[in-house]
Amino acid sequence: PPNLQMVEEDLGLERVNCRAKGASSGFKVAILGAAGGIGQPLAMLMKMNPLVSLLHLYDVVNAHGVTADISHMDTSAVVRGFLGQQQLEDALIGMDLVIIPAGVPRKPGMTRDDLFNINAGIVRTLCEAIAKCCPKAIVNIISNPVNSTVPIAAEVFKKAGVFDPKRVLGVTMLDVVRANTFVAEIMGLDPREVDVPVVGGHAGVTILPLLSQVKPSCSFTQKEIDYLTDRIQNGGTEVVEAKAGAGSATLSMAYAAVKFADACLRALRGDAAVVHCAYVASEVTELPFFASKVRLGRNGVEEIYPLGPLNEYERAGLEKAKKELAGSIQKGVSFVKK
Ligand code: NAI
Repeated sequence: PPNLQMVEEDLGLERVNCRAKGASSGFKVAILGAAGGIGQPLAMLMKMNPLVSLLHLYDVVNAHGVTADISHMDTSAVVRGFLGQQQLEDALIGMDLVIIPAGVPRKPGMTRDDLFNINAGIVRTLCEAIAKCCPKAIVNIISNPVNSTVPIAAEVFKKAGVFDPKRVLGVTMLDVVRANTFVAEIMGLDPREVDVPVVGGHAGVTILPLLSQVKPSCSFTQKEIDYLTDRIQNGGTEVVEAKAGAGSATLSMAYAAVKFADACLRALRGDAAVVHCAYVASEVTELPFFASKVRLGRNGVEEIYPLGPLNEYERAGLEKAKKELAGSIQKGVSFVKK
């Protein structure tokens, strides 16, 4: 296939290159793992985002194929592909936002923690390069187990002396998207009008929907609460089983990732009142990382909201979540420290 950059230069398509290099109006976004099940639709949706002026697509396979394909979309973002470790640093220089969906997904019967051995190393390598090339970028981490990969990223940045807890965010938006959908379904509401806070982390019992705080205010029977909590906590497994070995959630995840990335970009632009749940360095509980509602701004996480009043059911869920989370955080931290 033709090397797009060279073809453009041969033909003297200076303006496209100027636009790519300058890209002053709009944000520069890199996706690491852009050729994967999540990466591809995520790249497509980010190419459609008017806030993005330059989109860098990095992967260890097929990055140029995905780039060629997506670059034909007649939207304004300029797209560039980067293949393999030797092009990683070029992919990262100058980026405002880096989204990481690189790594292996689950197969039936696996927990997210079963992915640790492979994905921990991938996230560490990618974050080492971010620390070197764009330490001020906002980083959205999708690679599982998020409960451990976010602490891994934080440790890598600490080691490099560039850790800013406001800029490292674990993406738990899919849990919120699922919760909104499932609540809307049983209450007969439009999912776009529903807002369910989902706190804790992003795996099994650490996914804690706060159904007592749903907006618009809903009252659920205990049976509904049990059903919803179980379905929200196991929504990922529902997809893994339905795909029967072909991977985990990719399309709904790309949607959720773009919803979250767009919120980060709007906040970077200076929009007010951008509030979403995310898994971040936090003092909301005694744990060093926790997912809860955060207000995003020009520097990333500007404010972390407390959990608000919990009922007895949610308090019991919180204790279980914290117990599991503590282990996952420790595992991530020791992976980098050892
Ligand atoms: P996939 O296997 O389809 O794609 C992963 C991509 O990462 C592949 O293109 C692969 O070449 C690439 N990759 C592998 N090593 C890399 C490296 N060192 N540098 C750059 N790219 C590399 O997997 P899929 O379905 O896209 O899932 C990706 C990750 O997202 C998994 O860890 C999965 O568990 C996680 N996930 C997270 C969710 C969340 O809510 N946070 C939801 C769903 C999935």
